[in-house]
Amino acid sequence: EKDGFDWFMRKEIFEQPDAVAASLLSRHTATGALQLDEVRISEDDLREVDKIIVIACGTSFYAGLVAKYAIEHWTRIPCEVELASEFRYRDPILTRDTLVVAISQSGETADTLMAIRYARAQRAKVLAICNSNGSTIPRESDAVIYTHAGPEIGVASTKGYLTQLIACYLLGLYLAQVRGTRFGDEIAMIVRELETMPQHIQTVLDNAEEVYALAREYVDATSVLFLGRHAGYPVALEGALKLKELAYIHAEGFAAGELKHGPIALIEDGLPVFCVVPPRGRDQLHDKMISGIQEIKARGATAICLAEDDDDEITPYADRLIRLPKVSTLLQPLLSVVPLQLFACELATLRGHDVDQPRNLAKSVTVE
Ligand code: M6R
Repeated sequence: EKDGFDWFMRKEIFEQPDAVAASLLSRHTATGALQLDEVRISEDDLREVDKIIVIACGTSFYAGLVAKYAIEHWTRIPCEVELASEFRYRDPILTRDTLVVAISQSGETADTLMAIRYARAQRAKVLAICNSNGSTIPRESDAVIYTHAGPEIGVASTKGYLTQLIACYLLGLYLAQVRGTRFGDEIAMIVRELETMPQHIQTVLDNAEEVYALAREYVDATSVLFLGRHAGYPVALEGALKLKELAYIHAEGFAAGELKHGPIALIEDGLPVFCVVPPRGRDQLHDKMISGIQEIKARGATAICLAEDDDDEITPYADRLIRLPKVSTLLQPLLSVVPLQLFACELATLRGHDVDQPRNLAKSVTVE
């Protein structure tokens, strides 16, 4: 049942630290090497993989977009991400050495199922990332990584998404281990950082009240934008999807660098814009994000920034500031998406919508 929460969705958001911990459990051997025992594709075959294509729909597709950043960085295998509903209609190039990764919380999504059937008919290998044991997509795949989030009842995916990210990170690290593109120590270090994530997610949840105050402030908004860069870009897309699904508000996510190529024309006085600020690092992403924020503020938008704890540089530019624990860039989506989930859930509640059963939507979409 709902354990005292008003919605299954809110309960599931608050279950995320446990869900992520469960997804990480028993993934390595005594020697520290990663093992994903549901992967029934031989290590020799995995060493031959020359292309990865991730296929999924909706929120699972956005998990796939994050996966691309991590998998390519760690394995150096080219990785494409494609909407399942588009995949088989474009005559994709598939060989025995293509690894198709199908991400589906329910394991029953028709678009994704049809895409993997097509891929297998072309002799590609298919690995499913799925939350529902024994569902159709893992049954029809060559291998499966289960996400162990526990049943997700709310139509909007939350803990399903976070645990899909975990499975994608583990897959990337496992491939790096098998192919030797990363040293064992480096892999072990990233796994150790992954293991600290449940406590960091809890820290973000402990500040839910701050996000609820924002939802009260913007309860009458007619449009909300979300900006991100690098792994924060798919988070912006996911934040927008959550708000559309639950609050029925016009919401769009953009790569911050694309602003000047068009979307900046949408900026007007008082428009709320969530900005997923990348961690400061050796690249220039953080500074470039700041210049994007300056551009939207100069046109009257309100910048609601999600930024890491000790990021003082952002303070003068942020109209509102939500702090996130400091973690590496590739893992930040596990934290930055959480306030966006809370915002959508709370705003929809305040508007009087049914958060668990949003209009026109079903938990698993079994028609193409
Ligand atoms: O079960 P799946 O992961 O295959 O579902 C894919 C999408 O239908 C799903 O993520 C949908 O976008 C959710 N309503 C998102 O909250």
